[in-house]
Amino acid sequence: MANEYAQFIEKVKKKSGIDLSLYKETQMKRRLTSLYEKNGFRSFTEFFDGMVKDSELYDAFLDRMTINVSEFYRNRNRWEVLQKKILPELLKRSNQLKVWSAACSTGEEPYTISMVLSESIPLNQIRILATDIDDHALQKARIGVYNERSLNEVPEEMKRKYFRKEKHVYMIDEKIKETVTFKKHNLLADPFDDQFDLIVCRNVLIYFTERAKDDLYRKFSKALKPGGILFVGSTEQIFNASHYGFTSADTFFYQKVEKSRP
Ligand SMILES: C[S@@+](CC[C@H](N)C(=O)[O-])C[C@H]1O[C@@H](n2cnc3c(N)ncnc32)[C@H](O)[C@@H]1O
Repeated sequence: MANEYAQFIEKVKKKSGIDLSLYKETQMKRRLTSLYEKNGFRSFTEFFDGMVKDSELYDAFLDRMTINVSEFYRNRNRWEVLQKKILPELLKRSNQLKVWSAACSTGEEPYTISMVLSESIPLNQIRILATDIDDHALQKARIGVYNERSLNEVPEEMKRKYFRKEKHVYMIDEKIKETVTFKKHNLLADPFDDQFDLIVCRNVLIYFTERAKDDLYRKFSKALKPGGILFVGSTEQIFNASHYGFTSADTFFYQKVEKSRP
């Protein structure tokens, strides 16, 4: 039924505050259909009724719709650009940077930001806000235990300095952990803080509709200080950046235009 999915969207919004209509429909429907079929349901209506009765199924739904894949230093050469080109410019303006990792998943991204910043400023000056819509991901992020695969791209020196290996897992150093504050936040519904020097939002915009992205670029631009930087994922270039008050600072880095002085 064509409007069955629309009804499902309405019901999910009421139950969770999550608006699935702002996520690309074909992709999301495919992901959810395979989940409900695996659980023996035949339609979105049956699936929703099942979710109301069974909180484990509801968790499985949240898990399927959020897609938490992440890794440290994802697209490592971009992090080198951040470290060598972008950060020195930001640090010329202020040595107390306000940083936001938006859609931080299980923590690899904000902890990477902290490690990169630690090469330029002392750890006790680093404060990073890290947010995600998914409570389970945030829980894992706070614990800070990772498997070897998610550390593939971590430079050896950082691995030695900031991870402790125990049997088959790696634990992130407490000093790095202390630089990050995790909070639940829905990018498509909750208000944004402002006056950020750096916003890192990677590998989530690809799941959103054009309308949702348009709205988010506007909000990110408002949330940044003039001269601040938005760092996006490696398939997420903004084609009409100037429309949102951005100029390109490097590939996948956008700088909020400074107001022209009179
Ligand atoms: C693929 S992960 C990206 C993680 C990390 N940024 C990276 O690039 O490795 C996408 C994350 O976006 C989160 N997410 C999805 N929709 C969201 C929303 N509306 N608000 C905030 N986070 C959202 C998911 O929970 C998931 O953790």
